[in-house]
Order: sequence, then C-alpha cells, then structure tokens
Amino acid sequence: MKIATIVGARPQFIKMAPVSRELRKHFDEIVIHTGQHYDYEMNKIFFEQLNIPEPDYYLGVGSGSHGYQTGEMLKRIEEVLMKEKPDLVLVYGDTNSTLAGALAAVKLHIKVAHVEAGLRSLDKRMPEEVNRVLTDHVSDYLFAPTETAVKNLYNEGIKDRVYLTGDVMYDALLYNIKIARKHSKILDKLGLKPRKYLLATVHRAENTDNRKNLENIIEAFIDSNESIVFPAHPRTQKYLKAYGLIKQIEKAENIIITPPIGYLDMLILEENAKKILTDSGGVQKEAYFLKVPCITLREKTEWVETVEDGWNILVGADKEKLIKAIMEFEPNGETYTYKFGDGRASGKIAEALNNALW
Ligand code: UD1
Ligand code: UDP
Repeated sequence: MKIATIVGARPQFIKMAPVSRELRKHFDEIVIHTGQHYDYEMNKIFFEQLNIPEPDYYLGVGSGSHGYQTGEMLKRIEEVLMKEKPDLVLVYGDTNSTLAGALAAVKLHIKVAHVEAGLRSLDKRMPEEVNRVLTDHVSDYLFAPTETAVKNLYNEGIKDRVYLTGDVMYDALLYNIKIARKHSKILDKLGLKPRKYLLATVHRAENTDNRKNLENIIEAFIDSNESIVFPAHPRTQKYLKAYGLIKQIEKAENIIITPPIGYLDMLILEENAKKILTDSGGVQKEAYFLKVPCITLREKTEWVETVEDGWNILVGADKEKLIKAIMEFEPNGETYTYKFGDGRASGKIAEALNNALW
C-alpha cells in the first residue's frame, strides 16, 4: 500500500511531521512537495528541525496568482500520481497545495484523505475557506480535529468516513516543545525576558494586501508601546516595503522585526510571550495549547473553541480595538476544555487508514 503525501506550505510541514512518523509504521509513503513555499526559512528549516523525510518529488511551482499557482500544481501533481499510482493521497489543511492535491487525485479516481477536515470560518472571501470546503467535498476519509469540525461536515451532508482524531498540531507541539526548551536560545538572542514581550505574526491576504488594514495593525503595534517581536512572513515583508511601513517599524524602538523563524524557536517565543497577536490559524491554536492569551487580527476564526473558552479575542484590523485588547484582554484562566484531542491524533489517523485500506 502506497500513500502519497502532498504538502507545500509552512504549516503543512509541521502537520505532516508527526503523521508521517506514524504512517511509515504501516505504509510506503512518498512525499510530493509542490514548492508553494521555497525560501530556506519557510521550507527547508522545518525538514531539518522536525526530521521530516526529504520530498521524493519537488515540483517547484513557486508563487503566483491563485489560478496560476493552483493550475500549475494540478498539472504537475497529476503527472507524478499517474506515474506512482498511489493507493491514497493525503492532504493537509487549507492551502492551494491542499486543493490541487485533492483535485488531482479525485480526477484520477485515487482515494483522498484530508487532515484538518471540517474547519469553517464561513467567510468565502478567504481563499482558505474555498480550499477547505472543496477539499472536504472530494475527500474519502476526513480527519476532523474537533467536534465542531465533525458537526460542520454533518451540516453539509458529509457523514461517512469522518473520524474525530484530535489535532495533529497538538501532537507536534507536545513532541517538540521539550526539544525546543532544551535547545532554543532565541530569548537570549533577541534579549527577551519571559512575559515581558508580545509575539506577533501577520500574513493573511485580508491584512497584507489591504493597505489600510496593514497600516492599522502596524500603527497599533507601535502605539501600544509594548515590546513586540514580529517574525514577518515574506508576503508581509513585501507589502510592508510596498506601503512604506517598514521605515516606521525600523524607527519604532518597541518593535523587533525578524525574518520568519524556525518552529523550535517559535514555540519558545510563543510559550514565553505575555500575549500573542496573530492572524495565523496555527498560531491561534498554539497560543491556546500553551495557555497564552491570543488576540486575533481577523473578523472570524475557524478555531471557535479558543474564543468560546475565553483565551482568544477577535479584533479584526481595527486599530482602537487592537490597542484596547493589547492593554486589557485577559482570559479568566479557568475555562479550558481541551477540545483538541489527547496528543495522539497522528496515531489515530494512521490506524484508521490502516484499518480502512488493507
Ligand atoms: C499560504 C496559504 C495560507 C497559509 C500560509 C502559511 C494559500 C491560498 N494560502 O499563504 O492559507 O496560511 O501559506 O504560511 O495557499 N513568498 C516568498 N517566499 C516563499 C513563499 C512565499 O517570498 O517561500 C512570498 C511571495 O511573494 C508570494 C507571497 O509570499 O507571492 C505569498 O505566498 P503564497 O504561498 O501564495 O501564500 P501565503 O501568503 O504564503
Ligand atoms: N511558525 C513558525 N515560524 C514563524 C511563524 C510561524 O515556525 O515565523 C509556525 C507556527 O508555530 C505554526 C505554523 O507555523 O506551527 C503556522 O503556520 P502559518 O502561520 O504560516 O500558517 P496558518 O496556520 O495561518 O495557515
């Protein structure tokens, strides 16, 4: 039995790490990397730090418009699948690489499994929402991280072969945080003390490609006067330069802007932050896993549990709301319902596929 894992973007490398370890106990796995992310610090560093098997195929698609990027991936993935003839294709999350992988497979009548199925923000203007919905509807095996995700699928008529497994990012965090605590020197390197800084990440299209939104966010960071560490995604770096905001950031004494950083350093920065400011899906969850208050720079989130439990607040790109939350937002600290599984989601996924496919 052969499984083709298709990945391409930063969060997918993190998600596949624990799953791949489990899959290889039962199956032959080949890894197809679309090349959506290609800079060293968006790509290779994760393979090195997380001991992920080297991709068997690197398709080198790179950046471009949605149509160009997804279309090129579809063409190139199809060629590999026709040659390799896997029994199943496994895709992760909600990027263009996810959708292209699922579509290429289903059209060749190859079974598709989706890890992180059933997430919904109910905002179709987000490219991720379109990718998720379409991928779920062509998938044969749907691995849902939460009960909410299972309900979302049920409401769309998807009832069979839905498995509630817990979240593979929780598995990845539990496995790697101990290694990170031992080896990371990031706090010393950036001159930071635990709980004396905020950690920020911004990269979603609705914030970066919209000048007013990015200006609001950066102005709030600067005006807050809090010490803020800001590892900037390449997309964000590009727009900060294009809008002339990078000069304001460099002048501001309270902002430490860095290139994207490796996962182990990221976990340590998250764990020790006073608060986290983010529009990332994965970072919202990690804040919750680590019990760090999270302020989300989006109007909606698919990770509703983090908000319901009071650990996450949605402020969009509203400058005043953001500053207020930076100053005042505090979870009550008591409500914590552990809705993301028990840290063994990857084993459950491999086991379910093992039972279903052999
Ligand atoms: C993608 C996903 C998003 C996910 C994010 C994770 C889609 C539609 N979006 O967004 O859901 O949250 O990955 O990080 O799939 N770039 C580089 N070097 C790189 C990669 C990107 O310079 O290694 C720059 C390019 O200018 C590119 C831009 O970043 O045009 C955006 O990259 P892209 O992969 O299209 O989308 P992300 O914003 O990374
Ligand atoms: N991450 C990282 N370095 C960074 C920013 C994020 O290692 O500089 C990790 C983060 O800890 C999480 C994942 O990347 O595990 C989230 O990916 P990202 O924010 O790119 O995408 P999203 O989750 O929004 O799709």
